[in-house]
Amino acid sequence: MALKILGTGSALPEKIVTNDDLAQVVDTSDEWIRSRTGIEARHLSTGETTTELSVRASRLALEMAGVDAETIDLIIVGTVSPDTYFPSTACCVQAAIGAVNAVAFDINAACSGFMFGMEIAASYFSKGSAKRALIIGAEVLSRVMDWTDRGTCVLFGDGAGAAIVESREDGLWELVQGSDGAKGEALICKNRPIQNPYYKEADKVDYTHMDGQAVFKFAVRTVPAAIKQAMEKAGVEDGDVKYYLLHQANIRIIESVAKRLTGGDSLEKFPTILQKCGNISAGSVPILLDYANREGMLSEGDKIVMAGFGAGLTWAAAVMEF
Ligand code: COA
Repeated sequence: MALKILGTGSALPEKIVTNDDLAQVVDTSDEWIRSRTGIEARHLSTGETTTELSVRASRLALEMAGVDAETIDLIIVGTVSPDTYFPSTACCVQAAIGAVNAVAFDINAACSGFMFGMEIAASYFSKGSAKRALIIGAEVLSRVMDWTDRGTCVLFGDGAGAAIVESREDGLWELVQGSDGAKGEALICKNRPIQNPYYKEADKVDYTHMDGQAVFKFAVRTVPAAIKQAMEKAGVEDGDVKYYLLHQANIRIIESVAKRLTGGDSLEKFPTILQKCGNISAGSVPILLDYANREGMLSEGDKIVMAGFGAGLTWAAAVMEF
């Protein structure tokens, strides 16, 4: 059982915030952010919600696929920054696009969310419970940032990416995934505080905290190993791969993964959008996929690798035929 991508879409908030703009808000500089991460700017919400961005991306994906929303059996949204605890973002998207026949739910696998969603769709397809799915990765991370912490707020952006995928008998879908909850503290954002007459602790609102070096080490060790395993399972070698579409966290992580996989310094097979978007967690991979697709970089039958990694800690690497 394999997955076929019928269409892709993405949506970014209108407001672009450059590194120089951020230097007006926290003690940082374009030079520091650019040299440590490769990021030059990011799109930040001035009111756009996770649901709105998801709906915009989904409509574009449906349009490209040329299918009606009623034919979608399954909607999965990977997000760590939903607008509401409930209903799920996926149910809100379902209502907005009129996908009345779909089962819809969210998953929290942070930056691996889109990949985990694709694997869930593959399982539904294998069981015969769905034939066509809408998989979305969407974030308004600016909601969960501490805008006084220069160590984190400069790294992230907002946006959504979506793909319509269908079950197919031939083709390729191999995924390797993992989680390491014991290292979860390395990238954490606590829930809203409990405030009721029975709760004794003086809780306060909390935002994202990150041990940047721990996350960096985790990424450069785990991601190439997972990609290699997925490629082995698929019987695919570097020469067969058209593009590696990696989670867009940091250019130095991508360079390091590229070196470990291909032995060279060239990033030709590793397209990037982080320069203009920053890290959009679950949104990164599907937005990059849509970018590559709309730029005409992908043709039917091309073998691509996609990989996500992040909070949890979680990771996933997949090989598929476009
Ligand atoms: N601007 C200017 N200085 C900054 C800064 C900023 N935005 N953020 C941190 N600094 C400072 C620190 O305060 C520290 O100063 P000090 O030496 O006076 O204490 C110095 O820069 C070095 O900080 P450090 O955190 O050690 O930097 P680093 O070289 O590890 O780079 C990251 C930080 C976040 C760029 C890097 O660790 C990283 O990319 N990690 C991976 C993060 C990631 O991708 N997370 C998402 C995964 S999904």
